[in-house]
Amino acid sequence: MDDIFRESLYNRLRDWVLQAGEMIRSKIDDPLAIDTKSTPKDLVTQMDREVEIFFATKIKQFYPEHAMLGEEGYGDYLTETNGTIWIIDPIDGTMNFVNQKKHFAISVGIYENGIGEIGMVYDVMNNQLYSGLLGGGAYRNDQRLQQLNPQKTLDTSIISLNHHWLMPNRIVDEKYLHKLIRDVRGSRSYGSAALEFMHVAEGSSDAYVSMQLAPWDFAAGKIILNEVGGVISDTDGQPVNVLENSSILICNPSIQERLLNDYLLPAKK
Ligand code: 2AM
Ligand code: CA
Repeated sequence: MDDIFRESLYNRLRDWVLQAGEMIRSKIDDPLAIDTKSTPKDLVTQMDREVEIFFATKIKQFYPEHAMLGEEGYGDYLTETNGTIWIIDPIDGTMNFVNQKKHFAISVGIYENGIGEIGMVYDVMNNQLYSGLLGGGAYRNDQRLQQLNPQKTLDTSIISLNHHWLMPNRIVDEKYLHKLIRDVRGSRSYGSAALEFMHVAEGSSDAYVSMQLAPWDFAAGKIILNEVGGVISDTDGQPVNVLENSSILICNPSIQERLLNDYLLPAKK
């Protein structure tokens, strides 16, 4: 993608994300129609759908040759990363949106031929827009994010966890995860993968582990994290495919080897 087109796409995406955020904030106290999807805890609201339709309509209008993959199904069914693909989660952290009315994000990643070009994660209620441009650095609003501290150690780290590993169908030896929680300085669970990626990118957290994420949960975060030197793999240390569900480990590179070798790989039964 050439620099001029990337920049124009970035500006347009920023406008749309801010507009969508304003739409959500203006209706935050309206009654919600809440449905469930795969499980009683897998929630979707009319706002998730409205925001995704907003992006789908804009993309079709302005970039009819681009494809879109969205959580709520208003995009395309994709098996290949050819061409330009927008990967969108209209509300990441829907349970937070429903129960807390905060701690959720709009997440949009734009890929060209499988390469992450632009990522945006908007913490709607805090009005914080995280963004990253391939080779152009990462930002929180207008402030450039620093490269991650190369001296980080596990005992001074905060790690975020998605507690899917506690689900009965997960084949994980919990004693290694208990040990991990004892060995780090602190653990957190915020309930929005996209925001947890941003905490690692800004250095307020040092790792995030989830046993299952979907492409729209991590597509934008991966691009932004990459710009500050953060690393991403699955929990076996293998590369992730942005069109497939995957377990995820993201972290400061200085603690990656220890997280994998001492905790996540042995935890695999
Ligand atoms: P969502 O709110 O868009 O559904 C919760 O810890 C985080 O994991 C959120 O980012 C949530 O995204 C995501 N998540 C929840 N259930 C999931 C599932 N079954 N598969 C993949 N991601 C999931
Ligand atoms: Ca979602």
